[in-house]
Amino acid sequence: MLSRVATYLGIVGVAAALSSSVACDKAPEAERSASSASADSVVGVFSEREKKLIERLSPLGEPPVDETNAVVGDERAATLGQFLFFDTRLSQNNKISCASCHEPDHGFSVAATLGHGIAGTPRHPPSLLNAAYHHWYNWDGSTDSLWAQAVGPLESPVEMGFTRTGLAHLIYADAELRRAYEAIFGELPDMSDAERFPKEARPVPAEPEHAHDRAWQAMAPEDRQAVNRVLTNVTKAMAAYQTKLVRKDAPFDTFVEGLSEGDEAKMAALSESQKRGLDLFLGKGNCVQCHTGPNFTDGTFHNLGLGPRDWLDKDEGRWDGVTKVSKSEFNATGAYSDKIDGKRGQWIEFLTRTSEDHGQFKTPTLRNVELTAPYMHGGHFETLEEVVRFYSLLDERVQLGHREEMLVPLGLSDQEIDDVVAFLKSLTGEPLPDELTKQPASPVSGAQLANP
Ligand code: HEC
Ligand code: HEC
Repeated sequence: MLSRVATYLGIVGVAAALSSSVACDKAPEAERSASSASADSVVGVFSEREKKLIERLSPLGEPPVDETNAVVGDERAATLGQFLFFDTRLSQNNKISCASCHEPDHGFSVAATLGHGIAGTPRHPPSLLNAAYHHWYNWDGSTDSLWAQAVGPLESPVEMGFTRTGLAHLIYADAELRRAYEAIFGELPDMSDAERFPKEARPVPAEPEHAHDRAWQAMAPEDRQAVNRVLTNVTKAMAAYQTKLVRKDAPFDTFVEGLSEGDEAKMAALSESQKRGLDLFLGKGNCVQCHTGPNFTDGTFHNLGLGPRDWLDKDEGRWDGVTKVSKSEFNATGAYSDKIDGKRGQWIEFLTRTSEDHGQFKTPTLRNVELTAPYMHGGHFETLEEVVRFYSLLDERVQLGHREEMLVPLGLSDQEIDDVVAFLKSLTGEPLPDELTKQPASPVSGAQLANP
């Protein structure tokens, strides 16, 4: 806990110090330019202090390398992962793929309030754009890597309803999939042995009478491990694909370049309204306290005090997430991690639960947020305007735990709300290459086809 709290306070402390200094800069325009010789000299409408703060938000570099996934930069793995991401055979009814709830045309989220696979999901599917920059996955941080995350949807009865032995059988039986898989990960177990490898088996700890669980428990421990290995190899390949789903180089980034270089033409990438919105984002709005750094998130969890919605159950958020990720055999310290003593492993080791975790959810990135309505963990708001109005009024009855104290009603005018929304829309990055947004013709990568 110590390290978690320290990191958290560290981040917030710095942001608070910076943003209170920004608040002091709210001098009228004339006064500000008059003092242009001082340390707070005006650049456009931004002071030197604001400029420093802005420069921390751009550019967005390459995603950090996930050391727990040895195939993350491997093109062959990314191609296999991309193929499987769009493959509906990985579901109970042959109709659902990852893309069913993470649609490329909707910023890899969906327009519906909740996701829909075999049945409805309890939360809204987050965007997968720039997901590789996160440390914790899911709204409650119940997993700690992209590859560990994907085990959940594959087997969840409301998402894809598949089983891990079913997955291994599918890859074994399909010549192309098997070729792609074995080129990267080595030989599959002998799945032709139906005694050892039942068609449908997976652990279902909450329902020991479940046929899938019984089939799983009846398997030899080394066969269960072999299947877990196939499962996690597949999800690592999917993670290699998802790591490429980066959209950056937004108008905001051009503006920041211009600000640093004193290039007026580049600074014109933001409209006047967007610049005012940025000013509010850093100052009066205090948004940057949590939506900080080049991916616009502090990577931690907060309770905004959102009220109930008809379509949502009570949700403990991070409180349950901490337990789940600590116990998972697929976390960074587990047997399937490719580096158990790295940074991710340490995060797990020092993780404990505190009463503050009740009703907390992960701060989402704001890059590309224009593309992914509705918003929040439960699809609470249909539009960005509704989101900003919420922060302005904070007029919802807190459902669980208590609202973070740093949040105060902002009392924004309609014009100010429009400006913040306009600013958020300046964070939409360059489109992905078309070939990343659909299923490739084959799971075997071009490079591999050329050198069989
Ligand atoms: C039926 C809808 C559905 C399907 C199918 C689905 N997901 Fe999701 N996905 C969700 C929902 C809902 C969440 C949020 C879960 C939570 O917070 O507990 C989520 C969360 C995620 C996240 C976490 C993102 C973040 O920033 O925290 C990733 C990554 C992800 N899904 C990838 C996948 C992959 C890969 C597949 C296929 C193996 C997949 N999803 C299939 C609905 C779905
Ligand atoms: C105390 C930390 C904090 C502050 C301050 C904060 N946010 Fe957030 N923001 C979050 C968290 C946490 C969520 C997700 C909450 C949830 O789903 O329960 C979120 C969600 C959002 C979303 C929805 C994104 C999505 O993909 O669903 C937007 C947009 C947003 N914030 C914009 C802003 C703006 C604009 C401000 C300033 C007016 C701001 N935030 C201030 C933490 C914060």
